Amino acid sequence: MNPSAPRAATEAAPRLVQLHRRDPAEVRRELIEGLNAAQAATSPKFLYDALGSLLFEAITALPEYYPTRTEASILSAHATAIAQAVGTGGTLVDLGAGNCAKALRLIPSLQPERYVGVDISVDCLEQGLADVQHQHPQLEVLGLGLDFASTLALPTDTLRGRPVFFYPGSSIGNFTPEQAAVFLTSVRGQSRDGGLLIGVDLVKDSEWLEPAYDDALGVTAAFNLNLLRHLNRLIDSDFDPRDWRHVAYFNRSASRIEMHLEARRTLVVRLPQGERTFEAGERLHTENSYKYCIEGFAELLQSAGFTRSRCWVDAQSWFAVFWAQA
Ligand code: AVJ
Repeated sequence: MNPSAPRAATEAAPRLVQLHRRDPAEVRRELIEGLNAAQAATSPKFLYDALGSLLFEAITALPEYYPTRTEASILSAHATAIAQAVGTGGTLVDLGAGNCAKALRLIPSLQPERYVGVDISVDCLEQGLADVQHQHPQLEVLGLGLDFASTLALPTDTLRGRPVFFYPGSSIGNFTPEQAAVFLTSVRGQSRDGGLLIGVDLVKDSEWLEPAYDDALGVTAAFNLNLLRHLNRLIDSDFDPRDWRHVAYFNRSASRIEMHLEARRTLVVRLPQGERTFEAGERLHTENSYKYCIEGFAELLQSAGFTRSRCWVDAQSWFAVFWAQA
């Protein structure tokens, strides 16, 4: 029984729908191909197994990791102005909803009629949706399991009413700017008379960017290294986290934080169709996290077809929340 949201017998239960899950064999093929590439690389989504998700949550509590708390402070400091720009009512579509904590803070000011939480699997949504339903008994609550990173195609019946998309956390930074343009265009295509409220991490001095991805306690290192254990379960490889070092730095010319795992010595790793040698110092590229300037992101929104946008930032201009109107 869920202790944070005991459900009264009369309370409506959120509807949960799992859309097509990707074929595990295809996921494995893609992983193996990335691991065998000259520059070995894996998609950042593999950072999030059960332990990886817990470690990410721990990251958001670190003093060095400013994005989560900065975004929260912008959303709360400007709640009234944001609600005025966005408008009330309609359907709030929360992309990457997870535990729905961010939406729970937004719902009182936006007052949507419906809430649609979207995440890779409905399993990670169950608790959060129950909390939303419990705190807002009148709200129609729906959970959608969907990997929207590949394509965002929401069933049209889930978008009744004016759609307000919410994509917080600067997760857009995991896309290349080209992929981000494609993604934003598809959000625009499904926004009708609504729009998109999105959190974007901004370019700043490496002195602040790099510790956010290489913290003193080593939580981000554990988050990155945990990928290897996840890979071992997915493809029966034999990566040993002790053979690898966490590396994170700001690549200013590409405007992105890069995370890598670097071989501490020359290693031979077992993979499904044979093995791969990693020379000492050779890296596996595990994540990109793109940082934008305000003008650059506003242009991206415009190129995606949004008619106008405005944004709110914190006092240091470290993070921005954009409202892009369809
Ligand atoms: C969840 C993609 C927004 O890029 O800041 C945090 C992931 N990686 N620390 C980010 C992450 C390392 C995070 N996003």
